[in-house]
Amino acid sequence: MQSDEAREVGAAAIVAGGRLLLAQRVGPPELAGLWELPGGKIEPGETPAEGLRRELVEELGVLTAVGGRVGADVPLPNGMVLRAYRVTLLDGEPAALEHSAVRWVGPAELSAAELVPNDRVWLPDLLTLLRVE
Ligand code: CDP
Repeated sequence: MQSDEAREVGAAAIVAGGRLLLAQRVGPPELAGLWELPGGKIEPGETPAEGLRRELVEELGVLTAVGGRVGADVPLPNGMVLRAYRVTLLDGEPAALEHSAVRWVGPAELSAAELVPNDRVWLPDLLTLLRVE
């Protein structure tokens, strides 16, 4: 059995038209209602890009291309590591299939959004991404 250690959670910084896509978590209770970059656990045998593409089909119903890293690694308490990637939409409109809502935010809305604690560390990187887009 593979341990959870060194396993990765991928998170997608999807930017289009100068805005970033945020998704609102349903649970657990302490995270419900907070906003995150959509994504999830990369499964054994998947590359991070493959796993993140699969998660975005499941969570948002969209086809995507996964690009380079954004921001720093975030160590999770369970020994996994959370990593954000720049992602481009190829097909479909993001829908909240596993979240309570999705929304596109510009820099001001992003700065004001109630992000999940793990994702807050990426705020400066995400703002930079929006400014150079
Ligand atoms: O969908 P799956 O069960 O694979 O993953 P998840 O429950 O969405 O995420 C796995 C872990 O990463 C949880 O502890 C999430 O809170 C965390 N996570 C995060 O902190 N920030 C994100 N943008 C995505 C996931």
